[in-house]
Amino acid sequence: MTSSPTAVVTGASSGIGAATARHLAAAGYHVFCAARRVDRIEALAEEIGGTAVACDVTSEESVAALAAAVGERLDVLVNNAGGAFGASPVSAAVSDEWRQMYEVNVIGLMQVTRALLPALVATGAGAILNVGSTAGRIAYEGGGGYTAAKHGTQVVTETLRLELWDQPVRVMEIAPGMVKTDEFALVRFEGDQAKADAVYAGVAEPLVADDIAEAITWMVTRPAHVNIDELVIRPRAQAAQHKVHRQS
Ligand SMILES: NC(=O)c1ccc[n+]([C@@H]2O[C@H](COP(=O)([O-])OP(=O)(O)OC[C@H]3O[C@@H](n4cnc5c(N)ncnc54)[C@H](OP(=O)(O)O)[C@@H]3O)[C@@H](O)[C@H]2O)c1
Repeated sequence: MTSSPTAVVTGASSGIGAATARHLAAAGYHVFCAARRVDRIEALAEEIGGTAVACDVTSEESVAALAAAVGERLDVLVNNAGGAFGASPVSAAVSDEWRQMYEVNVIGLMQVTRALLPALVATGAGAILNVGSTAGRIAYEGGGGYTAAKHGTQVVTETLRLELWDQPVRVMEIAPGMVKTDEFALVRFEGDQAKADAVYAGVAEPLVADDIAEAITWMVTRPAHVNIDELVIRPRAQAAQHKVHRQS
């Protein structure tokens, strides 16, 4: 087995997770790339010299297999798997979409954390980095299911930091605003490219996955006594969730 420090990145098959796996590998980590789409994580693992682990974070069995693959010691866990499904107002909310958002953004994050915590403690200097969102800080029309789930991500992060106060594990959250990734908006709008494009329309420079990956890598590579509790990161064009500078 490797003598390099190790990291697990969930949702490593695309977007922020794939970029984070690449940045952590460049920083010297052996990265366990976890997601459901095996072809993608296998290609990524080969590219960065990491290990691909098929994992659905909403399945306890699948998460147990991830923990078994990682073994007894782990330096960094990036809980990135997540997403938004739908944008209906509460009055027309689709229950299954809400369940799915809670399952992946909250329960999935909890299950992976619970399974890998012993290995993070075992290193004597573990780090957990949860990928939240500015949607976990505010409310917006049509966002009820996602904002509720990402508020959940934030509160679970805070709770865990309190519970681990005497343990050698840092607990951090990054809360990105608008990040233009290939799939996030497409997944949200069930493959409707026009709706997905409208999210970023006219924004000259939204954040990209590498911006978030770089920030995550900075956070987890601070000295073991430095806990960046939360880092809110937006494109300059997004002064607030509802105040986005769009050029026509
Ligand atoms: N893009 C933004 O504007 C933005 C802003 C703030 C926060 N975020 C958050 O950043 C994270 C990554 O977003 P992204 O923009 O990179 O979106 P993305 O490209 O759609 O990536 C989502 C990732 O999560 C994985 N995933 C979804 N369900 C999963 C499950 N049940 N088990 C394991 N993996 C699962 C997907 O992989 P598989 O489908 O292969 O499993 C995929 O790799 C999410 O938590 C998102 O909420 C995004």
